[in-house]
Order: sequence, then C-alpha cells, then structure tokens
Amino acid sequence: MVTGGAGFIGSHLVERLVERGERVVVLDNFDPYYPEAAKRSNIERSLASGLVTLVTGDVRDAEALRAAITDHGVTRVVHLAARPGVRLSLEEPEPYLDINVSGTLNLLKACRDHGVRKVVFASSSSVYGGTSQPADEETTPCRPLSPYGASKVAGEALCSSFAASDGLDIVALRFFTVYGPRQRPDMAISRFTRMIAGGEEVPVYGDGTSQRDYTYVSDVIDGVVAAIDTPLRGYRVLNLGRGEPIVLRDLLNNLETEIGREARLRHLPEQPGDPRSTCADISRARAMLGYEPSVAAADGVRLYTQWYLEMNRDRIGSR
Ligand SMILES: NC(=O)c1ccc[n+]([C@@H]2O[C@H](COP(=O)([O-])OP(=O)(O)OC[C@H]3O[C@@H](n4cnc5c(N)ncnc54)[C@H](O)[C@@H]3O)[C@@H](O)[C@H]2O)c1
Repeated sequence: MVTGGAGFIGSHLVERLVERGERVVVLDNFDPYYPEAAKRSNIERSLASGLVTLVTGDVRDAEALRAAITDHGVTRVVHLAARPGVRLSLEEPEPYLDINVSGTLNLLKACRDHGVRKVVFASSSSVYGGTSQPADEETTPCRPLSPYGASKVAGEALCSSFAASDGLDIVALRFFTVYGPRQRPDMAISRFTRMIAGGEEVPVYGDGTSQRDYTYVSDVIDGVVAAIDTPLRGYRVLNLGRGEPIVLRDLLNNLETEIGREARLRHLPEQPGDPRSTCADISRARAMLGYEPSVAAADGVRLYTQWYLEMNRDRIGSR
C-alpha cells in the first residue's frame, strides 16, 4: 500500500511498482493542499493497468486503514501521505501535527494490529534544519527550522519506537528536495518554471546564493524501491539526496536556458524556516541500499521543463 499514492512522489512510485507487475493499494484523501484534479491525473495511467486499487481515505481514520490493509492483504506499506510545505507550516502548524504526526501514529498502529511488518516512511531533509556540511544520519543533529521539519522528526521517533516495541521493520528515508514531472505546484522548480514561462516576476529570497540538494524523482524512486526490497531489520534512517547541491542563481540560469526566456527577478529578504543550504551525505544509502543517483541537475531540469512545456503547450503557445 502506498499512502499519499496520488501525490507527486507517490504516483511515480506506484507507476514503478506497476511496471514490476505488483498489485498496489493507493490510499489517498485527495487533500486540498493542491487541486484534486492534478492528483487524479497523476494516477490515471496506473489505474488503467488494472493492478491498482484506489481507496479514497484518510490516514487519520483507523477504520479506513484497517479495511484497506485487511481487505486487500497488504503486507508492506510506503507511508508518503503528509501535509507538505515548510513556509505554510510556520503560519499554520496545526495540520502538520494532525496529519504528519497523528496520521503516522495511526498508520503505525494499523500496521502493527493488522500484520504489516515492513514500513517505509517518507521523512525529509528538513529534520536537519540548515547544514553547511553534507548532513550525515549519525552525526548531524536534527534541528528543524519549521513545524513541518519538526513533524517529520516526530514521525521518525514514532517509527523508531514501533520498531523497538512491536518488531516492525521500518526504514525512514530523508528525501532532499525532490523534483521532476508532476512536481507539487508549490515547490521552487515548478513555481519558477511557471513564472518564467508566463513572463511573471520571480521572487528570489536572499541574494541567490542559497543552495539545495535537488534530487530527481526517478533517483528517489530507485531508493524507495530498494528500501522496500532490502531485508533491513529494525529501524533505519537513510538520506536520499544527490549529494551535489545547486546554487539558486545557477538553477534559475538553467531554467531560463531550457525555457528560452529570461527571468524577471524580484529580490526579497531571506525567509524564516528556509535553510541557506541543504546537502546529503548519501554514503549510508549507498552502502545499505546500493543507492546511486544518476540524473545530473542539468539533465533533470531539462526533463522537467520539457514535461512542463509539453503539458502547457496550448496555454503558452497562445500567448
Ligand atoms: N517533494 C519533496 O521534495 C519532499 C521532500 C522531503 C519529504 N517529502 C515527503 O514525501 C512525501 C510525498 O511528498 P510529495 O511531494 O509527493 O507531496 P504530495 O502532496 O504531492 O503528496 C502527498 C499525498 O498525500 C495525500 N494526503 C495528504 N494528507 C492525507 C491524509 N490525511 N490521508 C491520506 N492521504 C493524504 C495528498 O492528497 C497527496 O496526494 C511527503 O511525506 C513529504 O513530506 C517530500
């Protein structure tokens, strides 16, 4: 079962599992954080395969989880359902506790009570806060800068406790800014692309030298699938990044080149909650999962913008 399977990362994972011929239950409540229509379209192709069962349900609803697990004989769960968004979490933290923490607790209880022994949990680089050095799972402390990051620390702690007390095998994967086709509309690469292509002003927070370890979605899916397949016992936490951060200015230049239009930048002060830099040390995921990201930033940005321009050909073409 993939919770949040209609979302950006979830829909790519479901596609990959379907390609492998697996039967998948998608549990998603089509949370209105961004339009339901986008999420429905994300999973359209997978649903047509006949291998996917869509359960419209909420991870906070114990009965919905019980039914989804027992009716379909679920044995492994990838838990991606969450309220994302660092900045929004500073303004309105409550849903982050409710969905990301209580929802994760509910999911872990359902797994324990209904015979699921293997769980993969979507955590985030946001647990670290900002780091000037590559973040390492063992030695870099978790000092989140936002309620979103804090909610992922809490989710990890719950995973650790259920692995210890109930014998679940749980891998928490700390994703580092994932991008690619179908990326969430609130994320930087999709917002910048939309604004540059539409000739709108692009707000740039800070002086453009902040950097992010952008990770192409197919690389992240390789890591998630390896975490499902690899028999790791107990609780593990692993970074899934690329390990090569991109400076914001360079990212904007890449996007301008691919879109064929200059960005009109508007510089604004740095935002609270936004780390200046994120970078993953991926040696543990390499060693334990054989994880090896292969999509370079320039190629990933090209793949993303090609997808975006194709999807919006009529709208952009008619300007
Ligand atoms: N995209 C990234 O760069 C990134 C980075 C770090 C961590 N993550 C984590 O990865 C996971 C997937 O992120 P995404 O970018 O694909 O986000 P997304 O919003 O596209 O996907 C999340 C999905 O979960 C569903 N959902 C939300 N609340 C739910 C609930 N209460 N019950 C059932 N379903 C619910 C949503 O409808 C959505 O389809 C999240 O846990 C996110 O925190 C993402």
